[in-house]
Amino acid sequence: MKILLTGGTGYIGSHTAVELIKRGYEVEIIDNLFNSKITVLDGIEKITGVKPKFYHADLLDTEKLDEIFTSNNYDAVMHFAGLKAVGESVGKPLLYYYNNIGTTINLLEAMKKHGTKRIIFSSSATVYGDQDGVKLTEKNQTGIGITNPYGQTKYMIEQILKDNVVANPDFEVTILRYFNPVGAHASGFIGEDPNDIPNNLMPVIMKVSTGEIPILSVYGNDYNTPDGTGMRDYIHVVDLARGHVMAIEKMGPGVQIYNLGTGEATSVMEMIKAFEEAGGKTLPYKITARRPGDLAKIFADPTKAEVELKWKTELTVADAMRDTINYLNCLKKR
Ligand code: NAD
Ligand code: UFG
Repeated sequence: MKILLTGGTGYIGSHTAVELIKRGYEVEIIDNLFNSKITVLDGIEKITGVKPKFYHADLLDTEKLDEIFTSNNYDAVMHFAGLKAVGESVGKPLLYYYNNIGTTINLLEAMKKHGTKRIIFSSSATVYGDQDGVKLTEKNQTGIGITNPYGQTKYMIEQILKDNVVANPDFEVTILRYFNPVGAHASGFIGEDPNDIPNNLMPVIMKVSTGEIPILSVYGNDYNTPDGTGMRDYIHVVDLARGHVMAIEKMGPGVQIYNLGTGEATSVMEMIKAFEEAGGKTLPYKITARRPGDLAKIFADPTKAEVELKWKTELTVADAMRDTINYLNCLKKR
């Protein structure tokens, strides 16, 4: 089975490429390298022994996309490509709508024209909007209280995928709503290495530990949580990647939607402590004001994926911290 990964040199795509190759799938990647590096392909090869075929192309380039689909017969597409910086999306909404939605429409057009019917889409817990402190199931409402254009694009793309299935009932769509991916491959050959200035907690922690960012700002300690700091459902990226393998093996007609999370919430202070314990050194931090739009506690009910996909997270926050530190050490040696 041959699968095209859009955005496959990115953080989640590269880990998924590894898990797919390990299960015997043929993987090809298309990425414009806006937020990833070509050397990721070497990392995938070191882990699996296979270097996926790579197209350095932009999904907004419809001619190139048509060329790629003309010369291949893909059984499925996993659509990771997209811009993902929440804060940036507020300042550059048109870029986010154009890139995230434009790429998806181009991809669906190419798939339809060339007879590829299966797509797995990287959605996000952000579609649940401002529902705070409740274990989110796939039945929870979506689209209300989304505070930024990035989140809107995820919600809109879910709708586009659903509408496209109504018009093309032979399409098979799986929407995976990720909670907070963290960690790296245990080998240290791939991990999160963004080209931009990070604003998510884990990449900021990484840059504070290397001294590139002087101090970690903890955004608020007056939330309604045991230690007052925000709580999230941090899922190890290798567990998340395995979720995609289980999802592709279970695809069927219509639209399937799954939360991929652990079901547990961890606070910012607990994350700092876990990193310090794994690394054996302290992490400088200061408590600052809340970040606008943040909620107290967001976590998944992953029961549907457990039952239907036979998928369950196996790795912990401690594992993610160990693998992140190992990855940082490997980066230093390169
Ligand atoms: P990433 O930035 O590491 O990977 C995305 C890749 O897409 C990058 O390599 C980038 O160069 C590529 N890309 C962007 N626009 C493109 C275009 N027009 N044409 C070709 N390539 C393009 O991000 P990630 O963390 O691996 O996320 C993958 C997907 O999962 C994204 O859609 C993201 O929104 C979604 N997601 C991520 C998180 C998270 O916290 N990491 C959470 C929920 C959902
Ligand atoms: N935080 C800090 N300091 C920082 C960065 C984050 O205290 O420097 C805190 C936040 O306030 C929050 C927690 O760490 O309590 C997690 O914040 P992230 O920015 O890492 O993650 P979010 O849950 O805000 O959002 C992320 C992605 C969204 C996605 C969502 C669910 O950015 O795109 O996870 O998948 F929708």
